[in-house]
Amino acid sequence: MAEQNDKQVADWNDQSGERCVAHQARLDAMLAVFGQAAIEAAAPATGERVLDVGRGAGTSSLALAARVGAEGQVLGVDISEPLIDRARALAPQDTPVLFRVADASSTELPEGAFDTLFSRFGDRGRVARILTAAGFTDIAIAPFDASVPFGEGTTRDAAIDDAVRMALEVGPLSRALADQPDDIRARASAAVRAAFADGPGERSVIIDGAAWIVTARNPAS
Ligand SMILES: C[S@@+](CC[C@H](N)C(=O)[O-])C[C@H]1O[C@@H](n2cnc3c(N)ncnc32)[C@H](O)[C@@H]1O
Repeated sequence: MAEQNDKQVADWNDQSGERCVAHQARLDAMLAVFGQAAIEAAAPATGERVLDVGRGAGTSSLALAARVGAEGQVLGVDISEPLIDRARALAPQDTPVLFRVADASSTELPEGAFDTLFSRFGDRGRVARILTAAGFTDIAIAPFDASVPFGEGTTRDAAIDDAVRMALEVGPLSRALADQPDDIRARASAAVRAAFADGPGERSVIIDGAAWIVTARNPAS
């Protein structure tokens, strides 16, 4: 487990972190609808203190800060220095948000310091197991589906090229293919291209996005 975490720390401070920084605006546009749905479900009130875990480049922390206002506070933590640097650069002055490079699995945070714990991204089953083990109650898991703009271009072919490039550079497929030989990468790329070509869009590639919104309550709060 510790070894797996070390790998995550190394990867998010290297290739995955740098690629997410390079594509940050685009990833944020793709994921905005899911983040907004999660914020609606968390429903932080004015003046609340929110912990945003695995924060990435900070967009959801800024949206949360807008909800809690000047009397509230958002702390965004992430293990990736390049992503936290980007988050700091994006945060307008006087926004009630702080960013810290920290490992959420081991960092000690003061008890009772937060009203809401938020995170955009995570495996549904794993999140539920962590919440159960930590004593959270009322764990609810609801599906949330939305169309996601994945590739764009001046022609349909250019949009498909763009979508294939994106799929191979960022996200789980890029990690799965990272150490594979060229022929496997080429076959995977052809299969992904065929799947995108089957989907809708004229000068874009639109894919079906599917997420889970997980909510739970800390009985002690
Ligand atoms: C898929 S990205 C999602 C980023 C962001 N939440 C978003 O929706 O754009 C996962 C993020 O979790 C961070 N992360 C992974 N393990 C972590 C840990 N143990 N503690 C804090 N952050 C972690 C990574 O650095 C990365 O920024």
